[in-house]
Order: sequence, then structure tokens, then C-alpha cells
Amino acid sequence: MAGRAGGGAPRRGRSLQRVTDRVPDEIEKVLISSEEIQGKVAEMAAAIDADYAGREVLLVGVLKGAVMIMADLARALTIPVSMEFMAVSSYGSSTSSSGVVRILKDLDREVADRHVLVVEDVIDSGLTLSWLLRNMKSRGPASVEVCALLRKPEAAKVDLPVRYVGFDIPSEFVVGYGLDYAERYRELPFVGLLKPEVYAT
Ligand code: PRP
Repeated sequence: MAGRAGGGAPRRGRSLQRVTDRVPDEIEKVLISSEEIQGKVAEMAAAIDADYAGREVLLVGVLKGAVMIMADLARALTIPVSMEFMAVSSYGSSTSSSGVVRILKDLDREVADRHVLVVEDVIDSGLTLSWLLRNMKSRGPASVEVCALLRKPEAAKVDLPVRYVGFDIPSEFVVGYGLDYAERYRELPFVGLLKPEVYAT
């Protein structure tokens, strides 16, 4: 018999839409829906396409949170891109950074004379990015700009030149679309508020 092992009617795969619509119980509220995120990514990509027309951009994603925005942004751009990742660790408590940063994984290639676009999921105090921008500029790139999906203006401790910002959000505990709490919820396709009892325990 032709067809898949087991025969009979083809087994229906789980629809991606159905899977991604799932909102876990620990989420108090969806702050930014998947559709809103995708719309904003398309908008930012169009702006980046226009600004970098005729040039190649090197996207530098900051692990792990930036994985989702990197993947979606890179696919939404029409200009040539290459991708690099950095992993950094900020000394401080688990919920706030100190600005003293250690490189856990460095870029694999030189960025000298390249047009670097640092891609972040969220700018909170801005201390991580402030350090990263200084570090990136010391490597002699042709240019350095920042694209961040989320920014928390109330939490800012430094004023940073962020060229592309998706959404300004209140200084609350958000998860999803790359953002975690204790390494969970990164896979959610939306950004949501975590119920306080989840992190208060
Ligand atoms: C988050 C985020 C930024 C940083 C922002 O990373 O991705 O890199 O915090 O905070 P700041 O503006 O206060 O410096 P995190 O250290 O949580 O690591 P992760 O991306 O692996 O979750």
C-alpha cells in the first residue's frame, strides 16, 4: 500500500496556529500579540531595507533573548544580511543587570568595516547594550546601530541611541518571544505579563 506507514487517512499534523495560540496559565495577560509583533517586525525591516539599501548588514544577535527577533527580522529583510551571535553575562541579580559584562561567546568573525546592526529582544536598564555598543565600536565597524523589539523607558539608566524600536512597554515582568523567566516561556509567539505569583515564590 502506498502512503505513510500505518496507512489509512493521512494523520493531521498539529496546526502551527493552534499551537502558538496557546496561552499558558502562568500568563496574566497578552501584552503584544503575535500578529502585532510580526507587523512591527515587517515595519522595522522595511525601514532597515531602505536605510541600508545597496549595502550588506551584519546582524549581531545577543543570546539568548534575541533569537526570535533575529530569525524573524532576518527573514523579513530583503537586503543581504549575515548573522553573528554573542552571548554575554551581566554581573548582578537575576532580574537586573549591573553593566559589568563578561563575554561568554564572542563573534566568530571580525566586524571591521562592516555595517553592524545589534539586535536585542529588550532594553531594560540599557546597561548591557551600553557596554556592548562600546565594545562593538572598539572593533572598527563601518557603522553600528541597534534594533530592539522592546524597550522599557521607565527602567532606563542610560540614554542610548536606538535607531529601531518595536514597542515601548511598562517596566513589568514580561516573557515570551525570546524573553524568559528561569529559562521558560521563550518559545511563546507573543509577549505577555507573567502572573506575579509565578516569580514571587
Ligand atoms: C536581557 C536582554 C538584554 C538585557 C537587557 O538578557 O536580552 O541583553 O537583558 O537588560 P539591561 O538593559 O538591563 O542591561 P538576559 O541577561 O536576561 O539574558 P537572556 O537574553 O539570555 O535571557
